[in-house]
Formats: sequence, structure tokens, C-alpha cells
Amino acid sequence: MMSWEMGFLWVHLSFGFLLVFLHNGNALSDCDFFNGSWVLDQYSDPLYEPETCPFIQREFTCLKNGRPDRVYTQYKWQPRDCDLTRFDGKKFLKKYKGKSIMFVGDSLSRNQWQSLTCMLHSAVPNTKYNLTRVGDVSIFTFMDYEVKVMLDRNVGPTQPWDYMEEDKKIMKDMDRMVAFEKALTTWTNWVDTNIDPTKVQVFFQGISPSHYNGGDWNEDGVKSCVGQKTAAVGSTYPGGLPPAVAVVKNVLSKMKKPVKLLDITTLSLLRKDGHPSIYGVDGRTGMDCTHWCLAGVPDTWNQILYNLIL
Ligand SMILES: *[C@@H]1O[C@H](CO)[C@@H](O)[C@H](O)[C@H]1NC(C)=O
Ligand SMILES: *[C@@H]1O[C@H](CO)[C@@H](O)[C@H](O)[C@H]1NC(C)=O
Repeated sequence: MMSWEMGFLWVHLSFGFLLVFLHNGNALSDCDFFNGSWVLDQYSDPLYEPETCPFIQREFTCLKNGRPDRVYTQYKWQPRDCDLTRFDGKKFLKKYKGKSIMFVGDSLSRNQWQSLTCMLHSAVPNTKYNLTRVGDVSIFTFMDYEVKVMLDRNVGPTQPWDYMEEDKKIMKDMDRMVAFEKALTTWTNWVDTNIDPTKVQVFFQGISPSHYNGGDWNEDGVKSCVGQKTAAVGSTYPGGLPPAVAVVKNVLSKMKKPVKLLDITTLSLLRKDGHPSIYGVDGRTGMDCTHWCLAGVPDTWNQILYNLIL
């Protein structure tokens, strides 16, 4: 289990991205899907029942791990100026027949990858699939559609972790941001040199926030997300954005190739209720306010991705 400090460093220094192969050159929507608020919606069907998705890893199956409240599974993200199209897994699989989508990154990428495979699988529960792992890459194949949804745990040319491991002591926030900016710039140079945008669409996964400081959501003295049962109200977060977000926006703005930022930080910040807390892999001895329960917040990241690529 990560210590608090590790969680903090890790959130600020790690990053992930997504490659969508051989896209059809859709114009991206003009609507800002990332500006909005969470609304409770107990009545429409969830995208999938967490109990029926057969391959979610235990660290994300909060209900199975004993989480007693389930309001957190009933929120829907409502963009301010438009509606999100409901995720249609069959449509996705038909459109991407013979193609692949690859998540690259750490355990938050795995969180989002698992969410997408569950969302797709629940649309075609009887179709054959093959889940294999080759080296660092997990490959989930929907055989009848020849669609691969992959996860590469190796962040490629950038090694933000090695950077930190050279010096085990906790660095100041400033130093962390300098290291993060260097790692990111290495990555953007790699994309600018190696990616052909007519063949691959690149998304930067955005900074997924953690919730270890209640002062950020106006509960001073609270040191974790345990017991949080509701989303924060409104469309802005009292604690503001992590400094890494500004670094990401600045570095991406200098790129030559088009990379779309999945700007999920604010909508995720509002979901202090969405983490496993003590209903993760280590149970009551752990405290995970970094990853997200499934079903849950990463489903919304994927629903927005769907609205951007379909
Ligand atoms: C959302 O959009 C409104 C109107 O353009 C703007 O005033 C507000 O600052 C935006 N909020 C965020 C979080 O970007
Ligand atoms: C699943 O994929 C692996 C790796 O590509 C392959 O070796 C294996 O034969 C596949 N299994 C099935 C049932 O197709």
C-alpha cells in the first residue's frame, strides 16, 4: 500500500495517455464536456453492474469489498452547455472493428482501461473475448469485432518514476513540478517525432486527483476520503486545481502534433466520494483515496472519450 506521501508524489508525477489507432478523422465536438456538474440520477440504468463485470480487479470492486453506500454509483456528469451522448458499446465496437485503442500509463490508466472493458463487455455480454498479457501489455480482444483494448504499463520514453527514485527524500513541490515538466516534454517530443496523426489519435489522460485533505472541500481536519458519500456541489472545487494541471496545459500547448487533453481533473476533484478508501485491496489497513471505485468516475472519463471519438 502506498504511503500518503507516495500517493501525493505519484499523482503529481505520473501521467498516462491513450492511442486510438486508425481513427476516421472525425471533427472533435466544440462543446466543452469538462465544464459542468454532477447530478444524482437514480432512475436511468447504469452503464454496467459492477457485480456482473467478470474481470474487474479487486482493488476497484468497492461494493464487493463491503462498501455499504451506493449513491456514488448513481451520479451522472452534466456538461454545462450540452448533453453527453449515452455510451453505446455496440456502436463503439462496430465503428472500431479491426482497430485498437491503447492506454499507456500507471495504475490510473489501468483503472480507466478496466472501466472501458466493462462498459464494452456489458453491451455484448455473450460475445467471446480473450484477455491476455504479453510483457507489459494487457490485451483485451473482442473476438467477433476484432477490437483490441490494450493497456501498456510502460510509460515509454519518459520515466518519471526513475527520476524520483534517484532521490528518495520528499522533494519540495517546486522540484516535483520541474521533474514533471521535464518528463512531459520528453513525452511531447516523442509524440511530435513518432506519431502520424492520420493513423493515430492521441489523448493525454489528464491529472486524476486524490482526496487526502478535507480542507480542500471545506472539511478542515479530515485526512482522507473515508465516509464521503456525496459529490461536491457545483462546478468548481474549493481547493483549486493541482499545480500539475497548469504544467500539462502549458507543455501541450507547445506541441506540433494535435493531442487532445482529456481534461478530467475538475470533474474528478468534485468526486471526493468516488475512491475506494478502506474498500480497496488492503481493506481496513489501507486507505486509497487515489484510485476510483468501479463502476464509478472513470466510466465518465470514458463516456466523454466516446463523445470525442465517435
Ligand atoms: C464554465 O463556463 C463558464 C461560462 O463560459 C465559465 O464562466 C466558467 O468559468 C467555466 N468553468 C470552468 C470550471 O471552467
Ligand atoms: C488469446 O490471445 C493469445 C495471444 O494473442 C493467443 O495466443 C491465444 O490463442 C488467444 N486465445 C484464444 C482463445 O483465441
